[in-house]
Amino acid sequence: MIQGLLRRGSCSTRILLGLVLAVSCWSQARAEPREFNLTIDEVTINVAPGFNASVFAFNGQVPGPLIHVREGDDVTVHVTNNTTLPHTIHWHGVDQLGTWKSDGVPDITQKAIQPGEEFTYHWVANRPGSLWYHCHVNVWEHVAIRGMWGPLVVDPKNPTALEKSVTKDVIMMMNTWESPYAGMYGKGGAPADVADYFSVNAKSFPLSQPVRVKKGDVVRFRMYGAGDEVHEMHLHGHDQLFSHKDGYALSSPYYVDTVPVGPGERYDTIVKMNNPGLFIFHDHVDRHLNMGGMLGGPITVIEYEGVAEDSWYAWNGKKFDPDFFYSESMKKGYGMFGNVTFIGNAPKSERRGR
Ligand code: CU
Ligand code: CU
Ligand code: CU
Repeated sequence: MIQGLLRRGSCSTRILLGLVLAVSCWSQARAEPREFNLTIDEVTINVAPGFNASVFAFNGQVPGPLIHVREGDDVTVHVTNNTTLPHTIHWHGVDQLGTWKSDGVPDITQKAIQPGEEFTYHWVANRPGSLWYHCHVNVWEHVAIRGMWGPLVVDPKNPTALEKSVTKDVIMMMNTWESPYAGMYGKGGAPADVADYFSVNAKSFPLSQPVRVKKGDVVRFRMYGAGDEVHEMHLHGHDQLFSHKDGYALSSPYYVDTVPVGPGERYDTIVKMNNPGLFIFHDHVDRHLNMGGMLGGPITVIEYEGVAEDSWYAWNGKKFDPDFFYSESMKKGYGMFGNVTFIGNAPKSERRGR
């Protein structure tokens, strides 16, 4: 219709339409201001059957809320520390062009945010991809075993054809826990300390959740190494097209069946869901799957719509949370999104005071 009007219309109509098109393109590409509030709270979360961990939780949850913005957006985050120890937030993957004091490194770019204090970070999302945020104070404790991490997804201004084909995003943050220190704030994470619980999005199988798909879906798995060890993520029954490393699009994506997600790293793979059934997606490090002699750790199952579940299926009848991997939140456009599934319990003394 627009082409027809341009062909037939008078010169002034053509100029007007051109202006309208230019303005609408400009508003689509314009960097938006985004402003968010985060608190850091002391709560306890249930990671595995019989295993709870005391954590420093962003907005009371682990993982922290999904922050979803667009490349070029101007981001402001106000952080309030409601805990008993100091923290910061490092925006891992953001280059802090001209904003180095928002890099979140204690005693290098800022004084750590003390208990009861607030701090405001301000930066531009200069790089697209699967980024994340985490505390930078005593990272061996706060990040490795206290859950101080969350996903930061920056959509590219110019997505690749492969990215455009995606119908569902699945965010998987793998990490480590140390049960001897689970209830002891300020302790743990020393070289001699050994992690003994492992999880995806802070839940160990069977407390984790399935990924529900239908034939024809194209799923983008965004895998994060949020803990202290490498997680070898292996998907059964499907080829994973390795497409992005640390947010950067590979010039030549290639197929893999196991992805080594080490501390700090992000691997994105794109998978065509073309093989209906129930397929496990698991960490291949054997020790990560042994929770006190029971199968556990970073495990999910790809469940196809329409595939009947047998009574012996481990997750037969399980209550389903469609946003466990932030798949629903990722469809909602830009903003900050929490999930009640991830919210921990405040300590008893605090609850009494409320
Ligand atoms: Cu911290
Ligand atoms: Cu980092
Ligand atoms: Cu296997």
